Parts: sequence; structure tokens; C-alpha cells
Amino acid sequence: MSKILVTGGAGFIGSTLVDQLITQGHKVTVVDNLVSGCREYINQKADFWEMDISDPELVARLREAGFELVYHLAAQIDVRKSVADPAFDTQVNILGGLNVLEAARQGGVSKVIMASTGGAIYGETDELPTSENAPTYPLSPYGINKLALEKYLNYYYQVYGLNYTVLRFANVYGPRQYKGGEAGVVAIFTEAMASDKACTLYGDGKQTRDFVYVDDVVNAFIVASKIDCRGEINISTAKETDMWEMIMAIEEAAGKKLKIELAPARAGEQRRSVLLNRRALETLDWSPRVDFPEGIKRTYDWVKETQK
Ligand SMILES: NC(=O)c1ccc[n+]([C@@H]2O[C@H](COP(=O)([O-])OP(=O)(O)OC[C@H]3O[C@@H](n4cnc5c(N)ncnc54)[C@H](O)[C@@H]3O)[C@@H](O)[C@H]2O)c1
Repeated sequence: MSKILVTGGAGFIGSTLVDQLITQGHKVTVVDNLVSGCREYINQKADFWEMDISDPELVARLREAGFELVYHLAAQIDVRKSVADPAFDTQVNILGGLNVLEAARQGGVSKVIMASTGGAIYGETDELPTSENAPTYPLSPYGINKLALEKYLNYYYQVYGLNYTVLRFANVYGPRQYKGGEAGVVAIFTEAMASDKACTLYGDGKQTRDFVYVDDVVNAFIVASKIDCRGEINISTAKETDMWEMIMAIEEAAGKKLKIELAPARAGEQRRSVLLNRRALETLDWSPRVDFPEGIKRTYDWVKETQK
């Protein structure tokens, strides 16, 4: 049993991770300000500190608590919001992240595992599927700030010996996903299907994403805590799925047609996104287990269930 801190543990991925850690017998504390997370997603057996990751009190608390491991997931996750207000994104994703790192260092934590992003860090690239060694040209303050925090993790390792792993996720989907989030296209479309509402499809629908199911992501987090692996690792399926394929999978899961309204393509939207996952296989012995139709079915069933 380990003492583990999860920032963002009331969110979509974080709360799923916390459930799994608790099932495995760990003692878990969640830090979350509930800006996009939900109180009811927080596992009853976890301690909950309702606070902002930028709060200086966090450093004092970690000095006392004696955590071995920190999973850092709390973040401003909306790419468009980061474009509208880069300073706010920086405040949360860099200064807040730095506060977590400083707290981890002063609290004698052994390792920090950070939730980072693939697509937003690599930007538009000709290298598809994109490897961890691809050049990084983020097209948003969100991507820039995630990349900057990755560099800080490496800095804390070099200077203070704080061990770390960065997991760069593709598009994560599954139950509990926040519908307002930038990466939440599956959440938006499954919700529309379940409530018989129309949803908007931008452009020709041929834009692609690499959809990875939340349980697979949680699995990667758990394995990364057991293996000494520094640096960045893509967590993805390495498969491109376009919007029409996603719609077909949702229609299959629901057994009916989705109402779609077509709209012009959005300026600046990435055309293709798919991440190589060879490093995850080689270093973590990790590969995705849940295929897309199955993941969509589980997500849709959850949306229907929570509507009741
Ligand atoms: N969902 C994806 O497709 C995806 C892809 C790549 C990376 N990520 C990363 O994974 C992590 C989790 O994302 P998610 O999809 O579960 O989003 P989410 O919004 O459900 O979870 C983020 C959590 O952080 C909390 N939070 C935000 N700002 C905070 C602050 N200042 N102080 C304390 N808590 C704060 C929110 O309340 C929420 O519970 C994020 O770091 C995100 O950037 C997600």
C-alpha cells in the first residue's frame, strides 16, 4: 500500500484513476478545486482536499503528509480558453503545476507522473503517427504550457533528483468525460444521441483523432508508477478514426441514427492527429486493450444510465 496524491482527482480521468488505486489498496488523497470536476465522482474512501493547486498551503500540507507518489492531472484543459486567455492558462498549468512540483520536492515525494498531451504539443506535423521525438510546435498556450511543465519536471529531476514520467495522451474518451472540454467530441456526441438532440459536425467530417479509452489510460498511469522510466511516453492507439467512423460507432451502440447538422470547418482545427505508441509498448509493456466500438458502447451505456 502506498500513500498517493492525485491532483484533478475529481475529474474525468483523475476520478477513474483514483477508483482503480483504491481498488488496489492504496491510500489516496485528492486535490481538486471542482472547476470542471464533480464532487460525486470522488471515491468515498479517498481523502479530499478542496483547494487550488496554486495554493501555497499545498506545500505545507505535503511536508506533513508523506506521500510517495503524486499523479498530477489538475489543469486548465480547454484549448480554446487558453487561446482566449493565455495568462490564465499559464497561471494554472505552469504556476499551479510548479506549486505541485515544489510541494512534491519539499514533501519528499519519490516520483511525479504528469498527464500531458500529444496532439496539442506536436501541433501540425507531417510525421504521422507522431513519435515522442517529433519536433514540438504547439499551436496554443495550452500546448506551450504543458510542454513547459514537462521541462520543469525534467529540471526538478536533474537538480533535485525528483523522479518523473510524462504521459502524453491522445484523445481520451469514456464515462465521466466533461462535455465542455475541448477534447470531448465523443462526450458531446454520445450525450446528443442519448437525449435525441442534433449535434454539429464541422467541415467534411474527415478530420481524424486517435481515441484512447479511459481505462487504458488509467492502466498506463499505474504501470508507469512501477517502472523507472523518465521522459515522455505517448499513450494512444496509433489508429486514426475520422468523425464519420465515430458517428457510425455511436449509432451502432445506440441502435439508431444520430441527428447531425453540418457546419463549415472551424479555422485552425487540426486535420489529422495520431500518435505512435511504440515507446509505451517497449518501456511500459503497455498497449491499449479496449477497441473503439467497445469503448463507445461502454461510454454510451454510461451516458444513458446517468440520464435516468
Ligand atoms: N481528456 C483528454 O482527452 C486529455 C488529453 C490529453 C491530456 N489530458 C490531460 O489529462 C488531465 C485530466 O484531464 P480530464 O480530461 O480528466 O479533465 P477534467 O477537467 O475532467 O479534469 C481536470 C480536473 O482538474 C481540476 N482542476 C482544474 N484546475 C484546477 C486547479 N487550479 N486547482 C485544482 N484543481 C483543478 C478540475 O476540477 C478537474 O476535476 C489534464 O491535465 C489534461 O490536460 C486530457
